[in-house]
Amino acid sequence: MASFKDICFTPAEFANLAKIERTQISSLESSGQLKTIKRRVGNVDRKMITLEDMRNYFMGVATATGTTLSVPKHKVQMFYNVKGGTGKSTLTAQYVMRAAMMGLNVLALDLDGQGHLTVNLNILDAHERPTIYDVLINDLPIADAILSVAPGLDLIPGNLGLCNIEIPLNQKTRREYRLSEAIAKIIDRYDLIVADTNPAASILNGSMLVASHLVNVVCATNPLSFHGMSLVMATIEEMEREFRRELEVKIVPNLYDNREVISQEVLGELRTQFPENSTKAVINRTADLNEATKRRTTVWDVNPKGVAAHDMNALTEELLFQS
Ligand SMILES: Nc1ncnc2c1ncn2[C@@H]1O[C@H](COP(=O)(O)OP(=O)(O)OP(=O)(O)O)[C@@H](O)[C@H]1O
Ligand SMILES: [Mg+2]
Repeated sequence: MASFKDICFTPAEFANLAKIERTQISSLESSGQLKTIKRRVGNVDRKMITLEDMRNYFMGVATATGTTLSVPKHKVQMFYNVKGGTGKSTLTAQYVMRAAMMGLNVLALDLDGQGHLTVNLNILDAHERPTIYDVLINDLPIADAILSVAPGLDLIPGNLGLCNIEIPLNQKTRREYRLSEAIAKIIDRYDLIVADTNPAASILNGSMLVASHLVNVVCATNPLSFHGMSLVMATIEEMEREFRRELEVKIVPNLYDNREVISQEVLGELRTQFPENSTKAVINRTADLNEATKRRTTVWDVNPKGVAAHDMNALTEELLFQS
């Protein structure tokens, strides 16, 4: 199984992602709108589309039709919840890879000392690399902390050192503004900047709330996660008041299992209590998402026709263009 940067799509997968009929692929090739390569699988040469060629196709379509494909509604976004284990890192990783596949230029930002976004993006030497700690505490230029993961996808990785950022950050002047000021220096390079955050009401997360336009709160569809939602929403409102910001907030229901009555009840409660905020897209609990995490790849690579791929397609469209 290829890592994200080497990923190739079959014509059927490409047609599915591009929302076209498979039969259109030949005419796209002959008109020069799509490039394909031949890759040996077993004894046969199979037609494949590389990540780079897929991105070029989407960029070409956007230019030709003047669509808003490359302009997400909210440029700076974060996945957030003070509760741990709700799926923030998993969904952030799939979201940024999906956005890069569509032709966007994306920066992923790992703000968690666990470094799970970094690992999910298959970067395994983050302990040797600079992180946002060096930018905010040691004044490293933010551009020097960025590494390329794949065509269209850059990352500022996270490592254990981030666990020690709270005390020195607390002592800095304008502490909550330092991250937005750093992001402002590179914002023009990207169509989309997405942070994965640590599961706490930390100053680092507060700084990302100050920098963000859209906050995607990942809520597991279980009773305790739902119980914590009022606190999360109150924390966000407090930040908005303190820093005079207006944030768009979306609640993403995750780990949904429609065979469980409790899952259905929590989803119903979320939609009743937060009708404006709950996303239409629901992420089911699937083996494919766990498998993608284990193999450090995309759900489209694991099973392009599966439920997880469908759910992540719907969520990506919604958070990029409708929220
Ligand atoms: N929809 C899903 N279906 C199946 N497994 C999932 C799903 N979402 C997340 N998981 C799994 O749940 C576990 C926790 O997910 P993840 O690490 O993304 O949560 P988190 O909110 O980032 O945790 P933390 O708060 O510790 O940072 C992982 O093993 C992940 O693979
Ligand atoms: Mg995480």
